[in-house]
Amino acid sequence: MTDPPGDRLGLEHRAPVTSWASDFDHTHPDYAVSAPAIWDELRVDCPIAHTDRFGGAWLPVRHEDVSAIARNTVDYSSQGVVVSPNRPDSLAPMGYAPPITSDPPFHAIARRLLLPPFSPTPIAALEPFARSFCNELIDDVLDHGPMVDAAVRYAQHIPVRIIAHMLGLPEEDGPKFRGFIQRVLETPGIDHGVAEEDTLESYLGQQVAQRRANPRSNTEGDLIDYLINADIDGMPLEDAHITGSIALLLIAGIDTTWSAIGASLWHLAQHPDDHRRFVAEPGIRSFAIEELLRFYAPVTMARLAVTDHDLGGCPVTSGDWLLLPFPAANRDPDVFERADEVVLDRQQNRHIAFGLGIHRCLGSNLARMELSVAIETWMDRIPDFELSDPARVTWSVGQVRGPRALPIRILD
Ligand code: HEM
Repeated sequence: MTDPPGDRLGLEHRAPVTSWASDFDHTHPDYAVSAPAIWDELRVDCPIAHTDRFGGAWLPVRHEDVSAIARNTVDYSSQGVVVSPNRPDSLAPMGYAPPITSDPPFHAIARRLLLPPFSPTPIAALEPFARSFCNELIDDVLDHGPMVDAAVRYAQHIPVRIIAHMLGLPEEDGPKFRGFIQRVLETPGIDHGVAEEDTLESYLGQQVAQRRANPRSNTEGDLIDYLINADIDGMPLEDAHITGSIALLLIAGIDTTWSAIGASLWHLAQHPDDHRRFVAEPGIRSFAIEELLRFYAPVTMARLAVTDHDLGGCPVTSGDWLLLPFPAANRDPDVFERADEVVLDRQQNRHIAFGLGIHRCLGSNLARMELSVAIETWMDRIPDFELSDPARVTWSVGQVRGPRALPIRILD
């Protein structure tokens, strides 16, 4: 039996939650396990929950409130997007990871710089690489079958390999990135006593320095060279901008897609009808991927209030955190018919797994490609499988939610 995630991350001393409405802790292992049930209850009893933890935070769960906050850049700032007991040092206008931590007007400039490499054509060109990598992983899984932890042996490697390829970072540094990201996303604000040279900032600083020493054009270089060659009104980007954006691509792109792939396999392992339809009806696959994204949306982002104001009767104070649980909004019955069911061929599906407003996911083309290729490759090569031990499934804690242990038995 593996440890629950809280033990692994040193969270076992968290104070127990007395009420999800007035004392929530979204980094508590109980939230990781039961988040959908907690949102359902809150939606009825207290649609904007509060906690004094983290110096004060709000948790709206209705689609209407989540969307309104995500679109409002006057009362809310993105300078902090991961809730922690501390408030981020102001690095205005860009924040520490542009564009996700930038506010208007700088946000548009930082976002525009990153759009070309994530547009549909360059991402489609990466598909054969992704497919061949997924097939290599499946070869390895089948060599070691019939028992496999699909979160550890399959899902987690796919986004790491692809973003490392885009950024030109060594493939063998994958475990290092996951360590950095886990510290940022699962235990924000906790001092792990990591030596300066082992931090993400230091690692990326070295990568940028190496590229600066050996400059390459955009045609011969990678995404880091592309950022080094970029400019804002003729001025090259500051190092902090470049390393902040690369950190964002690693943080935003890895745990998120890992979670979406793992949660989709978790679902298919337990729902024989959906499983059978995915294999037998290729025509519904693109709808199925969107529906799995809606239902198992992994990402909750945050904002910092920058004004004192009323939010649906709640007194929000400047400096309060606001969580944006896009996954909860995606299960709001006021917006989606049969919101609490996976309808594999759902046709009308305006889900907000990728957020909305100015910060809508910039990597959504890449995320969709990775998720589709990962699930199709698995289902085509391992059409028959089940959870081998449901009690051993564990879920990540914090703002990105997905299975981190997913024991599967491959059937003949
Ligand atoms: C299933 C996988 C993914 C999901 C569900 C997801 C979800 C999201 C969400 C909800 C936001 C909005 C944040 C906010 O409002 O503050 C966002 C922003 C962002 N995502 Fe993703 N993401 C995924 C994968 C990726 C990938 C693979 C990348 C790139 C490697 C990426 C890069 C970004 C960036 C750069 C932003 C910031 C955009 C901005 O601030 O303008 N994401 N993502």
